[in-house]
Amino acid sequence: MEDAERVLSTVVASQMDTHGKYGGVVPELASREHLRAIVVVVREAMERAGVTWADLDAIAVTEGPGLVGSLLVGVTYAKALCLTRGLPLIAVNHLEGHVHAVLLEAKASGVPVEYPAVALVASGGHTHLFEMSGDRDYRLMGKTRDDAAGEAYDKVAKLLGFGYPGGPTLDRLAPYGNAGAVRFTPAKMKGNALDFSFSGLKTAVLRWVEARAMEDEIAARRQLQKRVGRPSVEQWLAVTPPATLDLLASFQQMVVDELLRRLRVAVEQCGARTAIVSGGVACNAGLRAAADRARIGCAVLFPTPGLSTDNAAMIAAAAFPKAARRDFAGWDLRAKAALLPG
Ligand code: KG4
Ligand code: ZN
Repeated sequence: MEDAERVLSTVVASQMDTHGKYGGVVPELASREHLRAIVVVVREAMERAGVTWADLDAIAVTEGPGLVGSLLVGVTYAKALCLTRGLPLIAVNHLEGHVHAVLLEAKASGVPVEYPAVALVASGGHTHLFEMSGDRDYRLMGKTRDDAAGEAYDKVAKLLGFGYPGGPTLDRLAPYGNAGAVRFTPAKMKGNALDFSFSGLKTAVLRWVEARAMEDEIAARRQLQKRVGRPSVEQWLAVTPPATLDLLASFQQMVVDELLRRLRVAVEQCGARTAIVSGGVACNAGLRAAADRARIGCAVLFPTPGLSTDNAAMIAAAAFPKAARRDFAGWDLRAKAALLPG
């Protein structure tokens, strides 16, 4: 099992340029792009790893949650490969994959992950908090009732003319603004205090924009994005006045506070010895810096940025313990839009 802990290659086909034109993910285009890329990406990953079909013991695939059209491409292809190569199939939950990106790197660097742990998965589609009593025991503690954290970034960025995906751009620009300049109200949750809500914050940003004459600067950014594709920080700064940078910094601060506040409470509630933060939003520099200062009460582990956003290495990592238990999927495996780990 030694090799279990090593990533031999990781190849990611980005669809950002395809969806960027539309300011968000277009499900039909996503599945078409998956269909186009999947054979080439698998071949390239195997070439870079220096392995052949004969070296493989199993093939793992994401069964959900996610866009069902895209999932279906992966599930169908994986089944076809397993059938023709005589290999067992392993079904992996996407959120469990994000958590295993952290477990994989912790193991590789000799950091022990002590349980119970709390895992926060914050991405474009999910903002979920789990208690983990072991590496495959998940109990949902809280989740977003509306937008996911990454989705809030993407929607605010789109509104302000920053293009898609919004998270990385807003994160890079936030340090140029004053995070105390715009006062947003934290979401008050009736019922489960560990649930999240980001739609109120998104609406507050919309109201802030509506109250100001921002049409010209937003149009200037849309033009810049159309002309350049992925503008640099300097290019964005040239078309973004200080007041808008203050807004971005305050928005980021609010999202980060909301995430870390609940993480801290969750850690306290279950006496967690490790906190895991993963998913695309785990790339956020503001979140990483704030987590260091936030007195979470235990070690907080983040994946390296390359393993934070969607990738196949994390799916393989989550599949390894299943392979060891011979927990294989049947040929009736189906793509599932909604699915919790465990
Ligand atoms: O996990 P992921 O790659 O895909 C999903 O499973 O959704 O996460 C993508 C999300 C997008 O919403 C993107 O804007 C956000 O993660 N994201 C970030 C950052 N990098 C990516 N959000 C905030 N700050 C970042 N640096
Ligand atoms: Zn993801």
